[in-house]
Amino acid sequence: MKRGKKNSDAGGPVVNSDTRTGSSELEALKPSLSSMKSMGLLLAVLMVASVMFSLSVVLRDPPSDDVLETEAASRVLPLRFHQDGELTEKKDQVGNNLVPGSDKESCLSRYEASLYRKESPFKQSSYLDSRLKRYQDLHTRCGPFTSSYNLTLDKLKSGDSSDGGVSGCSYVIWLNSDGDLGNRMLSLASAFLYALLTNRVLLVEPGAEMADLFCEPFPNTSWFLPSEFPLKSYFNEHSLFRDSGNPSFAYRHLVRDSSDQQKLFFCEESQVLLNNTLWLIMKAESFFVPSLFSVSSFEQELKKLFPEKETVFYFLGQHLFHPTNVVWGLITRYYRAYLATADQRVGIHIGVSDTGNDQFQQLVNEILACGIRHEFLPEVEQQRNLPSSQVLNRKSKAVFISSSSPGYFESIRNIYWENPTVTGEIISVHKPSQKEYQKTQRKMEGRRAWTEIYLLSCSDVLVVTSPWSSVVDVAHGLGGLKPWILNKVENGTGHDHYCMRARSMEPCSQTPWSHG
Ligand SMILES: *[C@@H]1O[C@H](CO)[C@@H](O)[C@H](O)[C@H]1NC(C)=O
Ligand SMILES: *[C@@H]1O[C@H](CO)[C@@H](O)[C@H](O)[C@H]1NC(C)=O
Ligand SMILES: *[C@@H]1O[C@H](CO)[C@@H](O)[C@H](O)[C@H]1NC(C)=O
Ligand SMILES: *[C@@H]1O[C@H](CO)[C@@H](O)[C@H](O)[C@H]1NC(C)=O
Repeated sequence: MKRGKKNSDAGGPVVNSDTRTGSSELEALKPSLSSMKSMGLLLAVLMVASVMFSLSVVLRDPPSDDVLETEAASRVLPLRFHQDGELTEKKDQVGNNLVPGSDKESCLSRYEASLYRKESPFKQSSYLDSRLKRYQDLHTRCGPFTSSYNLTLDKLKSGDSSDGGVSGCSYVIWLNSDGDLGNRMLSLASAFLYALLTNRVLLVEPGAEMADLFCEPFPNTSWFLPSEFPLKSYFNEHSLFRDSGNPSFAYRHLVRDSSDQQKLFFCEESQVLLNNTLWLIMKAESFFVPSLFSVSSFEQELKKLFPEKETVFYFLGQHLFHPTNVVWGLITRYYRAYLATADQRVGIHIGVSDTGNDQFQQLVNEILACGIRHEFLPEVEQQRNLPSSQVLNRKSKAVFISSSSPGYFESIRNIYWENPTVTGEIISVHKPSQKEYQKTQRKMEGRRAWTEIYLLSCSDVLVVTSPWSSVVDVAHGLGGLKPWILNKVENGTGHDHYCMRARSMEPCSQTPWSHG
C-alpha cells in the first residue's frame, strides 16, 4: 500500500512542475495585456493550462484501492523482469486461449502471469486444449441458473434420477475441507480433472474466502455453487448423506488412507455406478490425481490429455488458479520491489520452526551447503573480507525465504551481509510475512498465504526443507520446478549429500500413495 502511494507521489512533482510552469507563464503574460491579439493568446494559453491541469489531476490522483493500483501497475509493464526476455505479452500463455472476450481488467493475473514466471519447457497437448474448450462450453451451458441447471436441480429436489440425461448436465460439487490453502488447491485441481474425465461440471463451495483469492476461471459463467443450493445446510453433517434414499445425488469423502472405502471410489465398478448420479458431492483432502490414473477407464483419456504425466497439476493449476486483483497487487508489488531486478531468484521454503530447535544452525549450514554445491548460492569469503565493490561481478541474486519464523531469514541475511561472496555476487535476502501473520485478520491470512505460494512458484531455483508440505507441492507444481530437498538433518554425520533434486515437478511425487 505504502509503496504504491510513494510511487504516485514520486510521479507527482513532475506533473506539478508542469502545471506550475503553465501558470507562471500566465503570470508573466498578464502585464503585457494590451491588445485583442494578446487576449487571443491568453485564451489559448488558458486552454492549454486547463488541459494540463486536468491531466495532472488524473495522473496525480492516488490509487484509492488495490484494483486501481494493479491497473496502474499494468500500465508500466515495459519493465525488464527477466534478463533474457522481451516484455511483450506472450500470446501463447496457457489460459489465455481459453478465455476469449473475457474482461481483462477483472482478472489481471490471467494476462500478466507470464511476465513473472519462467518460460515453460512444456507445451500443452492440443487434445487438452480441445478438451478444455469443450469443458468451457459445457460449463457455460450447465452453469448456475441456466435452464439446464434449473432442470437438473428439479431432479434433485424431487429425488428423481430417471432419464437424468434430459438436460445433459451432471455435476461434481467440491466442498472445502479443513486443510490449508495448499491442500485445498491440490484437491480442487484433482476434482477438476475428475470433472473433465467424467463430463461433469465442477461447482465450488465458495466458503473459506475462495472468491476473495481466485478469479472465476471460466468466463461468462461461474464456478461457485449458488448459495440457494438445497443441500447446502447439510454440507457439514455427513451422516445425512449416507442413506438419503435420494438416487439423484451421492456424497464421497476422499481421505488419504488405505481404507476400503477410499479404495472403492477409484475402482471401475464405483465409477460405473456413479456415472448415472446427477449430483456428486465430494470432499477431498489432498491431491488424488495419481489415483485417477489407476482407474482403467480413465487411462486412455489421461494419456491423451497429458502425454507427459508429471504435467497434470502444472497445466490444470495454470487454468484454474488466477489470483484476484487484490492478491495480484500483493504479489506484483512485492516481486517488483524485491525480486525483479535480480539476475536469479532463489526460493527457500523452511517448514521447521526455529524456536527450541537445537539444530537451527545446522539447518542453515545445510541450506547454504546445498546452494554452494549445486551452484545457485555463492560461498562467502571469511578471511580476506574484500569489499565486493572491488570485485568486478555485477551479478545479483535475490533469495526469497518462506518460513513461519524469522530466525532462518535473519541468519542467512546476516551471513551475506557480514561477508563478501567469493564470486563478488550480491545476495539480497527477503522474507515477506511478519512472523505471526496468523494472528492478523483472517482474510489477510489467506491472501498472504496465496501470495507466498505464488512468489515461490516464480523462483528460478527452489529449495525446501521437506517435501511433505502442500505449500511446497503447489509452489513447485505451478511453477513447473523440481525443487532441491534437504536431507534430514542428522547429528554430526558428516554427510556429503546435503540435498537432492526432486524427481518430478508434480505434487506428491515423493509420497508413497498406494493406488487402491
Ligand atoms: C461473454 O459475454 C460477452 C457479452 O455477453 C460476449 O461478448 C463474449 O463473447 C462472451 N465470451 C465468451 C467466451 O462466450
Ligand atoms: C433458474 O432459476 C432461477 C431461480 O430459481 C431463476 O432466477 C432463473 O431465471 C432460472 N433460469 C432460467 C434460464 O430460467
Ligand atoms: C458413463 O456413461 C457414458 C455414456 O452414458 C459412457 O460413454 C461412459 O463410458 C460411462 N463411464 C463409465 C466410467 O462407465
Ligand atoms: C543430537 O545430539 C544431541 C547432543 O549431542 C542429543 O541430545 C540429541 O538427542 C541428538 N539428536 C539426534 C536426532 O540424534
